[in-house]
Amino acid sequence: MCGIVGYVGKQQVTPLLLEGLSKLEYRGYDSAGVAVMTEHGIEVKKSKGRLSILSDMLDGGDALKGNMGIGHTRWATHGEPSDTNSHPHLSQSGKFAVVHNGIIENYMKLRTYLTQKGFTFLSETDTEVIAHLVEYYYEGDIVDTVIKVMNKVEGSYALGILCADQPDSFVAVRKESPLIVGLGEGENFIASDIPAILSHTRKVYFLENNEIVMLTADQVKVFNPDKEEVTKSVYTVDWDIHAAEKGGYEHFMFKEIMEQPRAIADTVKPRIKDGTIVLDDISLSDEYLKNIQKIYIVACGSAYHVGVVGKYVIEEMTRIPVEVSVASEFRYANPIVNERTLVVVISQSGETADTIAAMREAKRLGGRTFAIVNAVGSAIAREADDVLYTWAGPEIAVATTKAYSTQLNAIYMLSLYVAQRLSLIEPVKLAAYIKALEELPEKIEKLLENKGEIQYIASKYYNSKSVFFLGRSLDYAVALEGSLKLKEISYIHSEAYAAGELKHGTIALIEEGTVVVALCTVKSLFDKMLSNIKEVKARGAVVIAIAEEGHTEIEHEADHVIYVPKSNPLVMPSEVVVPLQLFSYYVSSLKGLDIDKPRNLAKSVTVE
Ligand code: M6R
Repeated sequence: MCGIVGYVGKQQVTPLLLEGLSKLEYRGYDSAGVAVMTEHGIEVKKSKGRLSILSDMLDGGDALKGNMGIGHTRWATHGEPSDTNSHPHLSQSGKFAVVHNGIIENYMKLRTYLTQKGFTFLSETDTEVIAHLVEYYYEGDIVDTVIKVMNKVEGSYALGILCADQPDSFVAVRKESPLIVGLGEGENFIASDIPAILSHTRKVYFLENNEIVMLTADQVKVFNPDKEEVTKSVYTVDWDIHAAEKGGYEHFMFKEIMEQPRAIADTVKPRIKDGTIVLDDISLSDEYLKNIQKIYIVACGSAYHVGVVGKYVIEEMTRIPVEVSVASEFRYANPIVNERTLVVVISQSGETADTIAAMREAKRLGGRTFAIVNAVGSAIAREADDVLYTWAGPEIAVATTKAYSTQLNAIYMLSLYVAQRLSLIEPVKLAAYIKALEELPEKIEKLLENKGEIQYIASKYYNSKSVFFLGRSLDYAVALEGSLKLKEISYIHSEAYAAGELKHGTIALIEEGTVVVALCTVKSLFDKMLSNIKEVKARGAVVIAIAEEGHTEIEHEADHVIYVPKSNPLVMPSEVVVPLQLFSYYVSSLKGLDIDKPRNLAKSVTVE
């Protein structure tokens, strides 16, 4: 939430900041702004609305000249999206400009204190207290000042700070909000995420909590809160810059849907060796695995939905009890965790605040944490006891698709891995599962070729007021994801229900023309789903069914049928989700909505 970029070097900074912000807009898009060190001192330009408005205001970057600056794209927390609440914020005298990602929890107290000291606040934001506090404590050394500020503020922050006294250097600091440093030749950067700087450098530092960085064009110094210099290791980004660009597609979401066969293959294939699952970096001992009493899966949103699939799959393969918990609830539910509990946390960004907090609580209680993460070097990846990376590549669209799909595959692999290590699975069965995993990319490719049919179905129902997704067992788990996908990008009210549960109340909402998407791929429950379809049809529903190839009898009941290739039942969710993603995409597209940046949302939810 919120994107930060900063630059010092020899190039004109404003176009660079705008370019960097365009790669971070997925993190928030309520407003945008820049502060540039010009020949007249610090100058700020900011505006409510999308980055394009700021870009026009700045003549594409020509309007503010300078070689150092900071920029921000906002997802509003404190104060509505407005010009005044946009970042950067200036201190009272204009000597300091600040951009911030995170939440200052004690900002009211600090605001009262600073007001008593004579500071006037212009905005409703929590960030403005930082700008004034920096000015209040400044005695000539900006690093000392930042340390004093850190000691006063509570909450989470990644900050970029310009000081008018220092025309050739600026500082940044982070605590619980992500921030990286990009190392160039005669130029250096800060950013909330790698894509913002990737066209300029592949060499980065991942800042740890409470590290302060001072950047000039030729030097980067990192300090701890005791002002001791810290030696950092350089991480070289190895992914292709085009991975974070649209590459000819109209939307990132569509590109990312189409990338799924490749993303799954990259996640799975290197981990299959000689007919077994090999997780090289995982350090779970045999002793530990044998003694696991319970597995928790903790995550948010779509990653939580992966957990719901995970419960079925892990329990089926290992018979270890699995509990799935929404991360924002986990630590308030007095969870039962001990050293024999494996806590699997799932996150694309690796920086979701609730998931991080849940992971820390699990550790505090003595659990062992195992993270399934996409963003390399992210907070969750760094803090978990073990990490299994999903090699989806950068995911930019707010609505996740390829990250969800690779997370599913990571869960399948984890289940197989545990079953195999504990000798719970017969070699023939293991071979069959592995074959199913290897075949998935091709099957998904086939499903994607069928997109025209899904676009046609979407064209008939994109004006619906309400859509229900029904399924049983694993299909129910995927229904949750289908429903979230639709509501977040099309703004159509939607609910996912375990099909058997519908008649316990919700069926009252089914009326003439209500669209019901019925997932019917669990063989043993197919007939029961047919009955559920009949029940909603009898009340006027229009039914779009998803069924396995060959189950043509469903055509007598449903209005439309989308077939998915036959596969091993436990990996079927990977197929079923694809038509649901495409359906949501086309509905949103037909409604003319902003698919990649849906209203009120942001890609990385770094606040609780
Ligand atoms: O980065 P994470 O995987 O931790 O994010 C979790 C959720 O915020 C995320 O899956 C969200 O629900 C997506 N917008 C769904 O498309």
